[in-house]
Amino acid sequence: MSDQEINDSSPNILLGVTGGIAAYKSLEIVKLLRKNGSDVQVVMTKGAEEFISSATFQNVSSRPVRNNLWDESAESTMTHIDLARWADIVLIAPATAHCIGSLASGLAADLLTTLCLATEAPIIVVPAMNKVMWSNKAVESNCKLLRKRGVSLLGPVYGDQACGEIGYGRMMEPDEIVSQVYKQPIILDKKALAGLNIVITAGPTREPIDPIRYITNRSSGKMGYSLALAARESGAKVTIVSGPVSLETPAGVNRVNVETAEEMYSEVQKLIDDIDIFIGCAAVSDYQAKSTSLEKIKRKNSDLSLDLKPSPDILTSVSARDKGPFTIGFAAETADVMRYAKEKIAKKSLDMIAANKVGPDHGFDQELNSLSVIYGDKVVELDQTSKPILAKKLIKLIAERYNETRINQQLSNDSIA
Ligand SMILES: Cc1cc2nc3c(=O)[nH]c(=O)nc-3n(C[C@H](O)[C@H](O)[C@H](O)COP(=O)(O)O)c2cc1C
Repeated sequence: MSDQEINDSSPNILLGVTGGIAAYKSLEIVKLLRKNGSDVQVVMTKGAEEFISSATFQNVSSRPVRNNLWDESAESTMTHIDLARWADIVLIAPATAHCIGSLASGLAADLLTTLCLATEAPIIVVPAMNKVMWSNKAVESNCKLLRKRGVSLLGPVYGDQACGEIGYGRMMEPDEIVSQVYKQPIILDKKALAGLNIVITAGPTREPIDPIRYITNRSSGKMGYSLALAARESGAKVTIVSGPVSLETPAGVNRVNVETAEEMYSEVQKLIDDIDIFIGCAAVSDYQAKSTSLEKIKRKNSDLSLDLKPSPDILTSVSARDKGPFTIGFAAETADVMRYAKEKIAKKSLDMIAANKVGPDHGFDQELNSLSVIYGDKVVELDQTSKPILAKKLIKLIAERYNETRINQQLSNDSIA
C-alpha cells in the first residue's frame, strides 16, 4: 500500500532545500511529513548539495531528488511545470537569505525558484541564517514583501547558531515545522467536500442599454474562479455560472457562460435542485435598463435619462427555498462594510456572508483581498493575501461550517423522530 493510499487526503509536499547549514535537519522534515501520509518530492539547490548529498534525501523520500533545471532525463518524466502542478504545498526549509531574495525579486535562476513562480500551491518559507544576516534590512524587506504576497514564513527562532553566536536566525525545529505545515489554513483536505455539488456564480454581469452599450462593474471573476478551484481540490463537483471574464476555467470545473443578471438567474434555477452548496460570488448588477433600445442611442445636445428596474435577486431565490442548499453570499461595500453585511445575511437568510471593502485600492480587479466572514454569531477575519489563498481559506471555513450544520440538522431530526 502506498503512502497516498494510506491517507490520500494528505497534501503532496514539494520540499525545497537550500544552501544553509541547517540543510541536514531537512532529512527529519521529510521523515515526519511522510509519517503524516504526504508524498514528498525534494528539490535541492546547488548550495544545498555543498552540505548534504542528494542520495541521502532520495533514500528518505523514496523519490529521485531534483536539483537541475536542465536535467533532460528528469524533464521527460516530470518537467518543472509538472512539479509546480504536482505540489499541494511548496515548503522551503531551510530557506537561505539568497533564496528569500530571489523569491522576493521573482528571479528564476534555478529549478526551485523557477517552479515557485510556476506554482499555484501555497509557499511556506522557513528562514535559517546568521543573526546579523536575519536582521539585515534587505532580508527584512524581502520577508515583508513575501508575507504581503501571501507567502507564509515560519520562524526563525532564537537560539544557538552554527557560527557560535546566539540570537534570532536559527531554523525552527523539524517537528514544529511539520506541525505548523499541517495547521496552515491554506492546506485543503482533498475529501472535505467529497460527493457534494457546488454552484458558484462569478464575474460581472452586462446589462444592455442598446446594441453596443451596457452597464457593468469592475469584477474580474478572480475570486469566484479561485473558489471554484479550491472547492474542486476539496473533492466537490463544481459548476461556475460565469459572467464575461477573461479567465481560464479551472481543471475539472464545469462552466456555464452568461451575460445578463436574467441569464444568470435562469441558469442558476436550472441547477438549483441538485446542489448542496451555493456561493453567490458574482457581482450581479442590481439594476437593468427598463427597456433596451434596438438601435444605437444617438447623441443629442440635451440630458438623457435612463430608466432602470431591479434585476432578479439570485441570492434570495436560492436562500428562500425550502430545504435549499447551504448558501453563501458576498457583500462588497465601499463603506460601513460590517453593518451592511450583517443586514444582508439577516435579510436574505444566508448561512454565511463574506464581506469586503471595494474601491480604488480594494477588492475588484485586484490581486490581493481580505474578507470578514460572518456566520451565526461569529466573525472570522481572513487577512489580506492573494485571491487563490484567500479562496482556500474561505472554502475550508465553508466546509467546516457546512458539515457542522448538517450534523446539527441530523441530530435535531433524530431527536424529533
Ligand atoms: C559554511 C556555510 C554556511 C552557510 N549557511 C548559511 C545559512 O545558514 N543561511 C544562509 O542564508 N546562507 C548560508 N550560507 C550562504 C549560502 O550558502 C549562499 O548564500 C548560497 O549562495 C545560497 O544559495 P541557495 O540559496 O541557492 O542554496 C552559508 C555558506 C557557507 C559557506
